[in-house]
Amino acid sequence: MPAPLPTGVTLIDHPLVQVKLTQLRDVRTESSGFRARLNELATLVVFEATRSLATRPERIETPLAPCDGHALARPVIVAPILRAGLGLVEGMLDLLPDVSVAHIGMFRNEITRRPESYYFKAPSHLAEADVILVDPMLATGFSATGAVTQLKEAGATSIRFVCLVSCPEGLAQLRGAHPDVEIFTAAVDPGLDERAYIVPGVGDAGDRYFGTAG
Ligand code: URA
Repeated sequence: MPAPLPTGVTLIDHPLVQVKLTQLRDVRTESSGFRARLNELATLVVFEATRSLATRPERIETPLAPCDGHALARPVIVAPILRAGLGLVEGMLDLLPDVSVAHIGMFRNEITRRPESYYFKAPSHLAEADVILVDPMLATGFSATGAVTQLKEAGATSIRFVCLVSCPEGLAQLRGAHPDVEIFTAAVDPGLDERAYIVPGVGDAGDRYFGTAG
């Protein structure tokens, strides 16, 4: 029986997400397949993660009659944590073509296993926007925690975190540091290995996406 999810964590258990995640994990999946699956997964998970976005009424005309419809109430900003987070941007922009993209460079120091920030660039309307912070992996949670802190310091007031694979350590770290940040994940794996990689995980998501392994 799997452990109950912490509050504020949504597991995206849609069958298509689970099938594509399995293909992504598979060691036989080469970079081209890894990129394709990551793009598809990004589109599917952002669909779920934006379910609670507020809308406002918008009156338009169809070819036949006026119609009361909806527009998003607030601008959306997608914020990938570099490098691997970049792999989720294209698939998200397929559904959210008009959003701005912030970039957050967090380098994992392999000795301390703590993130070091090397780049931060976000649009000036952070405070009015719903920010979707993205990284395929939530491992120790320190990079995501640092990225949320930077976004808040720059003015962000509404942040969601979207990943594909997480683990209890990362969920506890991020929820503990930022309990206002909802987390969306397609899997909660058992834990981390001695190098702080998620096991079974996908391996190094950035290396597999960019073809830089080995
Ligand atoms: N980053 C990855 O790419 N994979 C992990 O398992 C952990 C961090």
